[in-house]
Amino acid sequence: MKNQLTIKNAKLHGQDQLVYIAIDQGMIRHISTHTDVEASETIDAQGALVIPPFVQSHVHLDSALTVGEPRENVSGTLYEGIEIWAQRQKQITREDVLARALKTIKWHVGQGTLLIRSHVDISDPSLTAVKALLEVKEKVAPYVTLQLMAFPQEGIMDYPQALELMEEAVKMGVDGVGGTPHLEFTREEGIASINRVFDLAEKYDCFVDIHCDETDDEQSRFLEHVALQAYRRGYGPRTTAGHTTAMHSYNHAYADKVLNLAQRANLHFVANPLSNISLMGRFDSYPKRRGITRVKEIIERGLNISLGHDNVMDPFYGMGMASMLQVANMCLHVCQMTGIDEMRQIFDMITLNGAKTLQVKDAYGIEEGKPANLVVLDAHDEVDALRRMPAVTKVISLGKVVAATEPVRTRLSLGNNEEVIDYRK
Ligand code: FE2
Repeated sequence: MKNQLTIKNAKLHGQDQLVYIAIDQGMIRHISTHTDVEASETIDAQGALVIPPFVQSHVHLDSALTVGEPRENVSGTLYEGIEIWAQRQKQITREDVLARALKTIKWHVGQGTLLIRSHVDISDPSLTAVKALLEVKEKVAPYVTLQLMAFPQEGIMDYPQALELMEEAVKMGVDGVGGTPHLEFTREEGIASINRVFDLAEKYDCFVDIHCDETDDEQSRFLEHVALQAYRRGYGPRTTAGHTTAMHSYNHAYADKVLNLAQRANLHFVANPLSNISLMGRFDSYPKRRGITRVKEIIERGLNISLGHDNVMDPFYGMGMASMLQVANMCLHVCQMTGIDEMRQIFDMITLNGAKTLQVKDAYGIEEGKPANLVVLDAHDEVDALRRMPAVTKVISLGKVVAATEPVRTRLSLGNNEEVIDYRK
């Protein structure tokens, strides 16, 4: 009997000895330093790092790839982005969303991301984007886990249909509900919006994933109420607070208090360093705040925090190519997490921590008996991967190679010498 696939000379996290990973019927059967079982296909990793797939914890597939439509964001600000998106959103069709979302997912897969949580705007009464992304979810299910969160871009309290639309989206099959309490008109309405989101989530037993305090306003204190609701309702493990950038500006005593509560609730955090380093701090002259949540402090508390790309070439953020290594690289710099252990923690944020946020940890990881979802990176360890952001040479989903990329090599011609170099130390 032959196995389906063997990866030989694989370097696993924290191990010096290279291993064989034997895969059959889409599952990891055996991991060992030798093998005598033949396989139909063998991949020689040549000592490269083999990891479980990257996890995208926060993206907006319904707005992805709309940059410049109907016009460019001249100021580059969040507020102009919201204005442009409101116009672009009126033009969306099923085909439009399908094409852009599928293309963006292909970019993810090509770079080793096989688990994605996407928000989807429900403020369009026809729910076109929700319907289209539910189709996408089904279409990509054989190779990508896609979770969808109903996202009320226009808020809940001043948009009377928002709750009904969110409820309809949940009935149609989205996995969770969100909110934007910091965009509600008053503190009181923001609090009320959070309560309603939790009520809805409890009714349908689905995830809560709230865009929370995405502002530099140090008075934006909705995280404490999200944490309180999660704690009181025992809903923390299914609750995610996204962005929480205001925490960057909280006084330390208050930040400490709110993190204590988050610890009691045991909720998840998601930071979005690419969009937030670009969009936050826009009211500052100098010095300019970095506009990212307190990543180190969240980790120190033993709380789970993972990373999202947030926007991929849309009116809010026109850059990006759906690379989670790029997201992690930015986080490392913005949060000054350049200590050796901190860099390893950053790598966890786009892998294991993401699986925790998405609550798929049991089926995630390179272990015997788990699904054979693996990525071969052209790197010798995690820190090397964060530095060079190298090619993901093989992406394997349920034992099948679904993407392959040639590593970058440069041919130099200096004087009479010709040589091929790469950028390893
Ligand atoms: Fe977002």
